[in-house]
Amino acid sequence: MPSMTPITRIGILTAGGDCPGLNAAIRGVGKAAIRRHIEVIGIRDGFLGLIENRTFPLDKQALAGILTVGGTILGTSRVKPHRLEVKGGVRDVRDVILANCAKRGLNAVVCIGGDGTQKNALRLAEKGLRIITLPKTIDNDVAMTDTSFGFDTALGIATEAIDRLHSTAHSHHRILVVELMGHRAGWLTLGAGIAGGADVILIPEIPYSVKHIATAIRRRGGKGVNFSIVAIAEGALSIEYATRFREAKDQKSRARSPDAREQARVELADLDRTHAGNTMRLANDLEKLTGLECRVTILGYVQRGGAPSAVDRLLATRLGTACAELLQEGVFPVMVAARGERAQPVPLDQVAGKRKQVPLDHPWIAAARAVGTCLGD
Ligand code: F6P
Repeated sequence: MPSMTPITRIGILTAGGDCPGLNAAIRGVGKAAIRRHIEVIGIRDGFLGLIENRTFPLDKQALAGILTVGGTILGTSRVKPHRLEVKGGVRDVRDVILANCAKRGLNAVVCIGGDGTQKNALRLAEKGLRIITLPKTIDNDVAMTDTSFGFDTALGIATEAIDRLHSTAHSHHRILVVELMGHRAGWLTLGAGIAGGADVILIPEIPYSVKHIATAIRRRGGKGVNFSIVAIAEGALSIEYATRFREAKDQKSRARSPDAREQARVELADLDRTHAGNTMRLANDLEKLTGLECRVTILGYVQRGGAPSAVDRLLATRLGTACAELLQEGVFPVMVAARGERAQPVPLDQVAGKRKQVPLDHPWIAAARAVGTCLGD
């Protein structure tokens, strides 16, 4: 719904994990907004900067030379304004943010982030703040957009890493297990796994059986190929773990009393804790089951670092500049989504809380199976 008050000054923040393309997006929004005679203010460290009133002018000079730079010149954090952790508990500080925006004369705020940021933005929009978001994440799991900036760069980095692991795998006749980011969505692992020619790809959407994986690896041995590359997402679950998680989640949604809810929450947190180290456990199990030496490589933050790819620079600039146009038209609260060649506003309540996982009938899954890749099921 177009809003009538003219937009003369906006704030921009980046929230959640950093990724390549954030600065390109800040530049895209900022430069296009300035050309529309809108003043642009940078907010430091995500929503925390809005709470603590830490801002600086994002003028032409501040926006120069950042297109190719990784990370975010604004800084970031994972703070949730409706549940700010304070000494002895949590506080809803959304009214503080509204008051600070009024004090600074910000007519609207652009929030650049992943699925958590979309939720935080919607909660602020519900309080009356005029908000537009942009989708960023290396996980590619923001709903209602074809893709998010950060993903293409991470896909390239992860693919190159898998390429480089092949030499050691075949020279030493080893299983090399490589862990990629992605707690709830397997886009990065599946994409890089296929592009890098991994023999086994394990993603959160498909619970795996260690025995099936060992069988697939032994079958390769039977054909004289005594090495394998296993690409595993950090959130991939064995069938046993997937069942335990599902039961704990069911228990939480069925819980009627605060005590029962707390017990279910503790159980889920325990499961999360014991699941950490999953990749090492898988490697140990595979070594025992196949008799092959098994080594682990965890790519971690390497996947989020460095300069954005050309594709991410383009996407961030395209969505960022479209965002400036929507700001001036007064279209709130929306996320600027990539839909084919177009940038399209999608109402924020259709995005927030709706994670985009890999559909089981996705062509990438069919292609992986068609070339004989084991997906653990
Ligand atoms: O959201 C992107 C992401 O890179 C996830 O894949 C990963 O699980 C998470 O961020 C970890 O980020 P941090 O350690 O910064 O919280």
